[in-house]
Amino acid sequence: MSPLYPPAWDEIEAPSIAAEPPGPRSREILDRLGSTAYAGLTSGLLPFAAAGKEGWTVTDVDGNVFLDCISASASVPLGAGRREILEPAITAVERFGNEDSHSFVTELTAELGDRLLEVTPKSLTRFDIALNGTEAVEIAVKMMRRATGRPVILAFHGSYHGESTTTAALGAEAAEISSGLRGLVPGFVHVPYPHEYRSPFKAPRPGGSGDSTIDFIRDHILFHALDPADVAGVMIEPVLGSGGCVAPPDSFWPALSALCHEHDWLLCADEVKSGMGRTGYLFAAERWGVEPDLMCLGKALGGGVMPIGALLATERVLGEIDDVPTGSTWAWLPGGCAAAIATLDVFAAEPVLQNVAELEAVARRRLGELRDRHPEVGDVRAEGCLQAIEFVKDRETANLDLELQNAVGAEMVRRGVLADPSSTSLNIQPSLVMPPAQLDKAYDIVAAAVEASLAISGR
Ligand SMILES: Cc1ncc(COP(=O)(O)O)c(C=O)c1O
Repeated sequence: MSPLYPPAWDEIEAPSIAAEPPGPRSREILDRLGSTAYAGLTSGLLPFAAAGKEGWTVTDVDGNVFLDCISASASVPLGAGRREILEPAITAVERFGNEDSHSFVTELTAELGDRLLEVTPKSLTRFDIALNGTEAVEIAVKMMRRATGRPVILAFHGSYHGESTTTAALGAEAAEISSGLRGLVPGFVHVPYPHEYRSPFKAPRPGGSGDSTIDFIRDHILFHALDPADVAGVMIEPVLGSGGCVAPPDSFWPALSALCHEHDWLLCADEVKSGMGRTGYLFAAERWGVEPDLMCLGKALGGGVMPIGALLATERVLGEIDDVPTGSTWAWLPGGCAAAIATLDVFAAEPVLQNVAELEAVARRRLGELRDRHPEVGDVRAEGCLQAIEFVKDRETANLDLELQNAVGAEMVRRGVLADPSSTSLNIQPSLVMPPAQLDKAYDIVAAAVEASLAISGR
């Protein structure tokens, strides 16, 4: 077994804050962007400009070194700058530049296709190429409709599927993502994600499906509002990623499979974020033995080095149909294929998933302490390296406290730890190879940031 990461990464001192972010050089760059870039881009930026990344750290232009618990929106799985992923990608770029893989392919195209079909659920026997996760989801939606001849896709509140017109309307993480689109992009019906802490449903009803979300779909949606014969299928994140790291209860999957089977609906697992080891399984669907009809991949598939996405599906979806145009010019560029193959090699050779289990144990312990200490911490969740804190105004109403969440996120940055506070929860997404002691250190800072933010707000 080779080591999990290059030994040099152990030498990096992090966090180390030399100048409160934004330091002077960062401020200069951010101010420059402030008058030229899209205002919606600059308003969401963290308060620094990066000078470089190594392993699980980010150094900014003022010399601050941050512990990175965002991992480029979970697209850098194995630490930044892994030579064994970078080098094959560089070699492929030097050899081919880009080629539009819809015109001609390389051996890497076939190799990556075979490798993906080997490691994904057995139900999936074909692949299509995509540039990124958004494009993989776009293709999935197109193919689900074409394969069934039906227009509607059932999706879930809390889910994020991208920000292109179709994927923004398919998702329902936060209303502003689909703002202006609902009336223009029909064909998606949303139901609450099976979310133990926030579910509006009581226990499953006697004589029902065994799961309260599926009872709701059957008893309410399909009875009152939606003819199942109009439904192409279901699009679901097997573990909710950006929407707050939520794993459905075990009762959900058999009840969902039975529903899909009964109405001949296709089941599509969007594993763009949960896939490639992030939840402690190579793919989150494995945990429940789910055999989807389609699976979308992206983000970490490129090893944090190159953009690449993929749609995997059954013969019915990708074997029997050949006249639906899909994808875009840079999909599966040779460098992207080489990076993805090298990434799969790392997963095969190194105990990455074992490390993810250790990181999950650290997170569960530290998050549990936080919830025990502060009534403002309503719920905490950790599924592998998807970890989340939900702040509430009080435990009784469980009303979200996004102001406190933002304050904690900002305080963490000041103390040198990066997390993503932009969702309905504070999301903590470390590298899958981060040493558990480093994550423990990050959680010391999370705890200090919560204390400080509560003190500042006088609570
Ligand atoms: C579950 C899921 N699907 C699709 C996407 C879109 O992927 P990308 O933005 O990398 O194209 C994301 C991105 O966050 C995601 O989390």
